[in-house]
Amino acid sequence: MASETTPPSPTSPSHAASPLHPRIRPRRLRATGPVRSLVREHTVRAGDLILPMFVREGATEPREIGSMPGVMQHSLDSLSAAAREAVDRGVGGLMLFGVPEHKDATGSGASDPDGILNVALRRLHDELGDETVLMADTCLDEFTDHGHCGVLDARGGVDNDATLVRYQEMALAQARAGARMLGPSGMMDGQIAAIREALDAEGFTDVSLFAYTAKYASAFFGPFREAVDSSLAGDRRTYQQDPADGAEALRELALDLAEGADMVMVKPGMPYLDVLRDVVRASPVPVGAYQVSGEYAMIEAACANGWLDRERAVLESLLAFRRAGAAAVLTYYASEVAGWLQEGLPEHLREFA
Ligand code: PBG
Repeated sequence: MASETTPPSPTSPSHAASPLHPRIRPRRLRATGPVRSLVREHTVRAGDLILPMFVREGATEPREIGSMPGVMQHSLDSLSAAAREAVDRGVGGLMLFGVPEHKDATGSGASDPDGILNVALRRLHDELGDETVLMADTCLDEFTDHGHCGVLDARGGVDNDATLVRYQEMALAQARAGARMLGPSGMMDGQIAAIREALDAEGFTDVSLFAYTAKYASAFFGPFREAVDSSLAGDRRTYQQDPADGAEALRELALDLAEGADMVMVKPGMPYLDVLRDVVRASPVPVGAYQVSGEYAMIEAACANGWLDRERAVLESLLAFRRAGAAAVLTYYASEVAGWLQEGLPEHLREFA
């Protein structure tokens, strides 16, 4: 590029500062690749990325999720291989979601040691140990026949306090199976305190809680419903947050901190960067952001049409979370991007790493 190799050429000294000849020129620090690199604040690092993974009970082969091209519902074997690959590429953690064969009203598969999620956790724990941070979604929606994140009361509403008991049982099953960090994502009041108490009572004081602190009732979870074969007919607006409310995230943050959350999360990601920023500023514990299924689907759909430069768009989307202050980013791109970083980004993408 000519501008990178041409020596700085003095402009005429007769140019006195004036509205047409600014004295202060931010462009000086953008003039060449090296100067941009020198002043760059943020980069994308594999170790900050967490890969969400889906494992399907009874599957013998991986099955691609239609609305998330490139993302699989794994069999146990393909999960194991993909997890190993992601860890070898340096991703910071794996977040597991289970897709059970049978569902029921209380989501019994979630706390059954032989339920698919717990079987998968045991397997990855055996294979990877502490080479990675093994995480599990602590929520019932994948396991309930009605698709809600909790159990229902007699009138069909989601029963907060009865659900807490199920979360305790589920959390214990996950900890026993080898999960290091649990991601309670159901937005029940008191879920962090309830789970912490159950874990501590069994001696699992080293199992961390990555609280889904600000989680909004979002259209951007759409493809995830396909990913977990969700049975949900209605919506989650009585427990997930209203997209119109920002300040409430800080109330949720205060509660999760008081209840003992080790990390907190904002979800979805890109449409809620303002919330992420607010939470980062207020949080004494590390904050994660979740680039959700719909965000992934949007980028992939645009790229499939040739409307975006895929690598650049993916890296820029991840950088946005780092810039907003996220310590960790859950993203379906985690393993792929970690692979790019491991190989070394091509010259035109160096700015991201
Ligand atoms: C609930 C859960 C959901 C997601 C993560 N955990 C679905 C929901 O709340 O409806 C969504 C993740 C995504 O869209 O990528 N167990």
